[in-house]
Amino acid sequence: MNSERLWDKRILISIYNMNLINRVIMKKLILGLAAFCLLSVFVRGQSAATGYPENKTSKKILDGFMDLRFGMFIHWGPVSLRGTEIGWSRNSTVAQADYDSLYKEFDPVLFNSEAWVKTAKDAGMKYLTIISKHHDGFCMWPTAYTDYNIMHSQYKKDVVGELAAACRRNGIKFCIYYSVLDWHHPDYPLHNNGIETPDPKANMGKYIVYMKNQLKELITRYHPYMLWFDGNWESPWTYAEAADMYNYIKKLDPSVIINNRLGKGSNKEMTAQTVGDYETPEQEIGAINMETPWETCMTICTQWAWKPNDQMKSLKECIRTLASTAGGNGNLLLNVSPMLDGRMEARQVKRLKEVGDWLKKNGEAIYNTKGGPFKPDSVYAATRKGSNIYLLIFRRDNDQLTLPALRGVKITDAHFLHGEAVTVMQDGQHSTLRLPEKLPDENCSVLVLKTNGNVDHIPVINK
Ligand code: GLC
Repeated sequence: MNSERLWDKRILISIYNMNLINRVIMKKLILGLAAFCLLSVFVRGQSAATGYPENKTSKKILDGFMDLRFGMFIHWGPVSLRGTEIGWSRNSTVAQADYDSLYKEFDPVLFNSEAWVKTAKDAGMKYLTIISKHHDGFCMWPTAYTDYNIMHSQYKKDVVGELAAACRRNGIKFCIYYSVLDWHHPDYPLHNNGIETPDPKANMGKYIVYMKNQLKELITRYHPYMLWFDGNWESPWTYAEAADMYNYIKKLDPSVIINNRLGKGSNKEMTAQTVGDYETPEQEIGAINMETPWETCMTICTQWAWKPNDQMKSLKECIRTLASTAGGNGNLLLNVSPMLDGRMEARQVKRLKEVGDWLKKNGEAIYNTKGGPFKPDSVYAATRKGSNIYLLIFRRDNDQLTLPALRGVKITDAHFLHGEAVTVMQDGQHSTLRLPEKLPDENCSVLVLKTNGNVDHIPVINK
């Protein structure tokens, strides 16, 4: 072989090798590209399933909700015939077959929606949330999707509809509680509390269609201001289904507010698994939070549903709970439990009226305010609006009340709401208020601190 041909061959070989390298690179590139395309399709597919939220409730709507501060929760249903806990007593203190037949006897002839709404209004409550379906699956409205509803009880009246109308007549925002889990429905896989093995005959897909139909019915018929979900913790319900449900609901009504128990995870805080607009601490006052809206739900007695001779909270406890909740920048959803005949207990109505009387005098310090800037404790909570700070004083430990200094503003005046002036001394570190020998209101006295600035945006001050 002459040298020229040898060079030709070498060149040919190196071109071949280059091609080989190129081919390998090309192959890798093509594979990479294909993988990238596949991945993005997959990701898009995922977000099509869980692209939540498509239409999140606006800050303006949520701010309006948080301005209301105080609402009535109502846990009621055929279970009031037994006086045991709603949902939870099924197959525990009440035999399942007995529990599931209670509706046949349910005849609350003294139910009067106007009276219930008047009770809420007199309590100073601005919204009302009624159980439409609890974990026991019984529906308190004439739903087209199951016979297990109020029209098949003795009573045969649309309790949810009557309350929605009474709320509308009286300027109370109407809200609906709906349990995700449903131990009674054949398509929901778990048929009792604590059962871990799903029923192979159940069909969660069909159950979700049932939920969607019912929620559409509730939204288009009663136009709730807010939907209060619950029963989100069991395994058949997933984050993806919750996210899809949120989008579905917001398509039906973009303005409806949704609590955070639609998704998974903690009720008390927003997590990656959360689906919903606001946090829902239960039977405890939430921690101060200026960013995320929250609502504490709490029973006026100990049980959610009516229980004879249940221990009721004192007026002091009710007012302090409300004041501390507002002081933490939250709402209070206080639960009442009507009886089997349709009336609310007289003592609960009286207690609520007493709270309302306190609010008539002191509502300025609760409604439309923000919590803080001082963190609430057992001595006082604070709310604020514009240049005013309202101290909600629970206890007088001595003749002075010392507050941490307010950076950037000065207190120009201090007086009890509708009452006498209070001397205030300020140095760079503290403001000291001289308290009268007896506080004007033994449950909670409101002291207004006027300042020379705007206090709405002062960061929360630890005491
Ligand atoms: C709990 C209970 C339920 C009640 C709800 C109200 O999640 O399961 O019975 O309705 O709290 O917050």
